[in-house]
Amino acid sequence: MDQLTQQFQGVFDAGAPEYDLIARLNPARIPRHVAVIMDGNGRWARQRMRPRVAGHRAGIEAVKASVETAVRLRIRCLTLYAFSAENWQRPEKEVKTLMELLEEYLQRELNTLQKYDVRFRPVGHIEDLPEAVAGKLRFVESETEGNRGMNLTVALSYSGRQEIVDACSRLLEEGVRAPLEEKDIQSRLYTANLPDPDLLVRTSGEMRVSNFLLWQIAYSEIYVTEVLWPDFRETDFLKAILAYQKRDRRFGAVPTPSLQETG
Ligand code: FPP
Repeated sequence: MDQLTQQFQGVFDAGAPEYDLIARLNPARIPRHVAVIMDGNGRWARQRMRPRVAGHRAGIEAVKASVETAVRLRIRCLTLYAFSAENWQRPEKEVKTLMELLEEYLQRELNTLQKYDVRFRPVGHIEDLPEAVAGKLRFVESETEGNRGMNLTVALSYSGRQEIVDACSRLLEEGVRAPLEEKDIQSRLYTANLPDPDLLVRTSGEMRVSNFLLWQIAYSEIYVTEVLWPDFRETDFLKAILAYQKRDRRFGAVPTPSLQETG
């Protein structure tokens, strides 16, 4: 039995349509941390002549599929960008529905998170969210605190620039003086406990990072797919991982010898 079959045996069904993709995966190069900018809910709804919120509702299925795929692939950390600090500028009704969907997700999915041994953590200015939602987020966070499987981080009322500003404010409050080192900032980020993302996925074809994990994505591989978030499923996730595995990660150094031009 080959290494891949051993690693994913019983986890993915050999007859499943995605099995071809799985067979091409290198189990030794599964990214430790995948971050996702979930985009295109509005366009998905518009294509169907439905209100934007229908796109967000459909987006929940893509969240569930992504969490499940990441767990099955034994990805250590999955971070989802669910609501940016700028998203407060959207129409009140849309914001309200997004908050309701989030509450619903937390209520319904806690059991699944427990079953998969997932540790859930919200990051961002959670105190800006309605108290009922903030309370549920804290509840799910504390209920899953002892889980040792995947880390699922959800960014809410989140701004990458604000995260760096908050880290600097903490440094000043703690009386840390110049000269600073990178680790002084890194250790005060919301994601201080996580490795930097190896892979940043963005759906709906937009080539932007939109104020997401600005510090942490310094060396992340970026993968953009045309698929709109509500349509994003296991095969799309696997395609992203395969694309990542073809990249030569240099971290500013020279190419790895096998990929260097010869002669
Ligand atoms: C971007 O699409 C998507 C969002 C702003 C919200 C994402 C939220 C969810 C999928 C649901 C809740 C999340 C969790 C983790 C349970 P857009 O509206 O900007 O789409 P557009 O660019 O096509 O208009």
